[in-house]
Amino acid sequence: MTSTQSNSKGVAVITGSAQGIGRSIAIRLAVDGYDVVINDLESNKENLEEVKKEILADLPERRVLIVLGDVSVEEDVKGLIESAVKEFGNLNVFVANAGICKSKPLLETTSDDFESVLSVNVKGTFYSYKYAAQQMIAQGEGGRIIGASSLAGKKGHASLSAYCASKFAIRGLTQSAAIELGRNGITVNAYAPGTIQTPMLAGLAGSADYNDVYDEFKRLSSVGDLGTTQDVSSLVSYLVTPEARFITGQTITIDGGIHFD
Ligand SMILES: NC(=O)c1ccc[n+]([C@@H]2O[C@H](COP(=O)([O-])OP(=O)(O)OC[C@H]3O[C@@H](n4cnc5c(N)ncnc54)[C@H](O)[C@@H]3O)[C@@H](O)[C@H]2O)c1
Repeated sequence: MTSTQSNSKGVAVITGSAQGIGRSIAIRLAVDGYDVVINDLESNKENLEEVKKEILADLPERRVLIVLGDVSVEEDVKGLIESAVKEFGNLNVFVANAGICKSKPLLETTSDDFESVLSVNVKGTFYSYKYAAQQMIAQGEGGRIIGASSLAGKKGHASLSAYCASKFAIRGLTQSAAIELGRNGITVNAYAPGTIQTPMLAGLAGSADYNDVYDEFKRLSSVGDLGTTQDVSSLVSYLVTPEARFITGQTITIDGGIHFD
């Protein structure tokens, strides 16, 4: 993979990278040698600026571009990729990480709840895969596309019907895109984390005591622990390497051994 900067491994775009798993992926890919384009909602701009500062403090030779935008808006995703290519000359890796979760029993889930979750998680990933692939095909050098599914994309969970539906959909998108794009040298995979300590997970604990919720998650896992954002970013780090060329269409569970495919 090449980019216009000779000491760079390429250009990686990571959506929803102001915090949590996306932030960790952006930092890890920068450490791995990628110039990174970090994206999030306008409301999370300050955290994005912190991520940029943190990367440049340790890696002043890296290039980091902030592009604000909402992945559920088609023009924003197109604009994100256009900005990446305009500034850095290329697109080699796209991580469609941005996602939202709403926890409500089925009977209390409104049409608006359902639509908003599917709009960010499914439409956002669809736009990301489509426009990233379009750019990578035009470049003719292959690429790596990665989406965010979940343990909730492998099995249903109470009070997570909209979220589960959205994360199951990521698996379908990932498999279909992998089949269509494989002969262009583009692999498409997704990560399916279990319980990773992030602001999203803390939000899910709601008014319950975090420690009780975390203890329950630990009890469910085979390794007796919660995951860290680094557990997910190290998987992504491998999936973007040339060595991972034969892995495509997979939604890889990373949950400490709760669910077995
Ligand atoms: N934390 C977990 O345990 C866990 C488990 C399984 C899957 N996931 C998935 O991993 C991904 C990251 O999760 P996280 O735990 O880091 O969540 P998080 O809430 O901590 O971070 C998600 C980021 O996405 C951003 N975002 C939300 N909507 C957006 C939009 N429309 N456009 C652009 N950015 C948007 C948020 O502002 C936030 O910065 C999500 O897709 C999530 O569903 C997380």
